[in-house]
Amino acid sequence: MGRLDGKVALITGGARGMGKSHARHFAAEGAKVVIGDVLDDKGQAVADGLEDCRYVHHDVTSEADWAAAVATVLDAYGKLDVLVNNAGILRHAPIAEMDPAEFRRVIDVNLVGCWLGVHTVAPTMIAAGRGSIVNVSSIEGFAGAAGLSAYSASKFGVRGITRSAAQELGPLGIRVNSVHPGGVLTSMSLSVAEHMTGIDPAAFLKAMPIARFAEPIEISRLVAFLASDESSYTTGAEFVADGGLLSGPGY
Ligand SMILES: NC(=O)c1ccc[n+]([C@@H]2O[C@H](COP(=O)([O-])OP(=O)(O)OC[C@H]3O[C@@H](n4cnc5c(N)ncnc54)[C@H](O)[C@@H]3O)[C@@H](O)[C@H]2O)c1
Repeated sequence: MGRLDGKVALITGGARGMGKSHARHFAAEGAKVVIGDVLDDKGQAVADGLEDCRYVHHDVTSEADWAAAVATVLDAYGKLDVLVNNAGILRHAPIAEMDPAEFRRVIDVNLVGCWLGVHTVAPTMIAAGRGSIVNVSSIEGFAGAAGLSAYSASKFGVRGITRSAAQELGPLGIRVNSVHPGGVLTSMSLSVAEHMTGIDPAAFLKAMPIARFAEPIEISRLVAFLASDESSYTTGAEFVADGGLLSGPGY
């Protein structure tokens, strides 16, 4: 028995990194999965490698793409139980130097994209009287970081969407939670590392109670828990998986 047997999930940003890991883990736990992304070749390859998985071109900033992605899920599987709002981008720049268009782009993908997801799937889930939405924020949803003003603002915002949606949708049978990874080994975290000049990576890791970066699967297991009925009494909550980074200053 898989923990997600019988569930149908839509996962955004599923072509690589954590989204790819979530898709694989969900499929291994028995879910039927539709992944969306803007990286069509990589996304199709992920879907082709799984038994019950489809790929759809899906830019999360596009309302039309959201409608088409949900239609693909319903055409293929007849229902939609789980949305994982995973797609995201990161731009590293000091506030004084950042192009405002870049700030807006990060907000558009990470924050507006998340809101559009909840907005688009809600009617289907309301009609079914059930559903679970998992919004991927970050530890930068709790703390600022130099060079990450846009990213951090977007990830703080995801918490607001999550809590508001939980309030609205809880009485209708739909749970909405957020996940807050710390450093996970993907293309995105490697791009951050390139900008950490003057910081000794060994000292950075030593300050963490669990002194290493995470593998994507360690986040996928948490996302699967929130997608599954095992988390049936949990909504509007924030789940940190950061090796203890936020727990204290690591003196
Ligand atoms: N890697 C980390 O350390 C870390 C930590 C905390 C939170 N996160 C968050 O986890 C999520 C996944 O990140 P990742 O580390 O796997 O990064 P990644 O860059 O490997 O993957 C992100 C995916 O999102 C897709 N994407 C980007 N813009 C899109 C758009 N407009 N529409 C649809 N898809 C789009 C990309 O093509 C890519 O496949 C993101 O929301 C990220 O902010 C990552």
